[in-house]
Amino acid sequence: MLTGKRILLIIGGGIAAYKTLELIRRLRERGAEVMPVMTEAAAQFVTPMSVTALAGHPVHRDLFDLGTEAEMGHIQLSRSADLLVVAPATAHLMARMAQGLADDLATTLLLATDTPVLLAPAMNVRMWEHPATQRNLGTLQSDGVRFVGPNAGDMACGEHGLGRMAEPLEIVAAIEAQLGAGPLKGKRVLVTSGPTHEAIDPVRYIANRSSGAQGTAIAAAVAALGAEVTFVTGPADVAPPSGVTVIPVETAQQMFDAVHGALPVEAAVFAAAVADWKVDGASDQKIKKEAGGLPPLSFTENPDILASVAQMTTGRPALVVGFAAETTDVIAHATAKRARKGCDWIVANDVSPATGIMGGRENAVHLISDSGVEDWPRMAKDAVAQRLAARIAEALA
Ligand code: C5P
Repeated sequence: MLTGKRILLIIGGGIAAYKTLELIRRLRERGAEVMPVMTEAAAQFVTPMSVTALAGHPVHRDLFDLGTEAEMGHIQLSRSADLLVVAPATAHLMARMAQGLADDLATTLLLATDTPVLLAPAMNVRMWEHPATQRNLGTLQSDGVRFVGPNAGDMACGEHGLGRMAEPLEIVAAIEAQLGAGPLKGKRVLVTSGPTHEAIDPVRYIANRSSGAQGTAIAAAVAALGAEVTFVTGPADVAPPSGVTVIPVETAQQMFDAVHGALPVEAAVFAAAVADWKVDGASDQKIKKEAGGLPPLSFTENPDILASVAQMTTGRPALVVGFAAETTDVIAHATAKRARKGCDWIVANDVSPATGIMGGRENAVHLISDSGVEDWPRMAKDAVAQRLAARIAEALA
């Protein structure tokens, strides 16, 4: 809940501003007071009247509005808030903030404040990836500005990639986390993610197609609800989320050691695609190609990390969640896996190539617990993560 919290909400000029109307509603539903500020460009996308009506506060737009200045100067406006939120934060607004410019009410408030600032960027993927924007992002992060999103997905401009503004409920979760009001505040959550690499020799290894996208999204989602997250990740394609403790590993054995070193935790989510086997007697030297000969490879079993934690007799996390990637009889195999491993929940999915799930952006999962099987509709991996994080928060409440 955000009862009694004052949010100064700066709306930048981007098409994502329409989602900010929903954000205002969600914040007020949770008891927050929302003081809206719009840039000149923002008023091209949503009307000040809609913003005022939803916020229940007059929208501030003009730096030189003397009437307002007499009632509440802009310095005081920025200082009276518990948090400044910029949504959408456009590339231009981020650039002006990074430069310390104060050429309108929004940037003046942002420069004059000593209150924490949270940005929800929204822009075209090329603009987000541009070295200038990435430079500005780095500058703002080192100034202590916090970020939520952007997400990957389809954009209003017809392109696809990173740059979509975070969804209103994700922004709410980030605000709650920032204000120490998230439902997982004070809870420690461990998340494993990504593939493992098992060496054949110093050059070659055996791997799998896991991108780390689902585990990363879960770590981000539980962190957004205020959890203290330890993220143990194999060599993944996607970057780890911010605001979590990252422990990079390569092999299953290293992941096992890192997981046990991170205990105790209240909840553990095992989303990693851990190699079941490692090469028996991996060579210290590169194996030479010899005419006509093929190197013999034999395997030994890796430790089962999930089972080792789920079956702990003392210090077991209150909630242990495993994943089951299957290509046939998904529910039957996953139900059997839940019993065999001793975990509380299994998140099961069909990773047949035709589903495009492994390495893709979407997931269709079944949540298997002692109360049965829930079929979740196909949705973005970020959305699966948020739904799972909300369920974890309920289970630990
Ligand atoms: O046995 P299987 O690999 O199908 O089980 C999948 C689940 O077990 C996932 O949650 C995965 O992270 C976990 N696992 C593990 N350690 C292993 C193998 C799988 O933690 N060695």
